[in-house]
Amino acid sequence: MQITDFKILVAGIEHIRYAQQICDEMLVSAKSRGTGIAKRSPEYVANKMLEGKAVIAFHTDGTWAGFCYIETWSHESFVANSGLIVNPIYRKAGLAKAIKNRIFALSREKYPDSKIFGLTTGLAVMKINSELGYEPVTYSV
Ligand SMILES: CC(C)(COP(=O)(O)OP(=O)(O)OC[C@H]1O[C@@H](n2cnc3c(N)ncnc32)[C@H](O)[C@@H]1OP(=O)(O)O)[C@@H](O)C(=O)NCCC(=O)NCCS
Repeated sequence: MQITDFKILVAGIEHIRYAQQICDEMLVSAKSRGTGIAKRSPEYVANKMLEGKAVIAFHTDGTWAGFCYIETWSHESFVANSGLIVNPIYRKAGLAKAIKNRIFALSREKYPDSKIFGLTTGLAVMKINSELGYEPVTYSV
């Protein structure tokens, strides 16, 4: 399994049928990590796709492989890349990193003047974010 086995796309209306599977996987992984991640509804995820604020990945055989979306606050002054999830059968192949790269580029294209940040408690995501040039800050100011 290598990164060239996957395609990474800006999600659109044709991907709404994957919203349920994505939410199910988010819930399973949140439970197994024991984190208090907010539960996202399939409607919420579908809406992100319709707004052009999400990235979806597929294996070349058509299996759903990963997802991430953009959240904005304060009139789009702040942008976060949220809800990163990789299908468990495709983990540790560099896919999360590739999805994060794509969603970061999409965030820059859509919101060139905003501050981009990510919220995470996970080591894998910390690593990816550091490589993208994010700087760690604490939750409080
Ligand atoms: C976290 C997650 C997105 C990583 O996906 P992935 O495709 O396996 O990640 P990558 O292969 O791109 O790995 C990126 C880096 O993190 C490391 N990594 C991956 N999973 C890891 C883990 N569980 N613990 C520690 N490091 C990990 C990799 O070794 C790699 O580091 P490297 O560049 O030094 O080799 C995936 O495990 C997942 O969907 N988990 C459940 C949901 C979740 O935790 N989402 C993040 C919420 S903030």
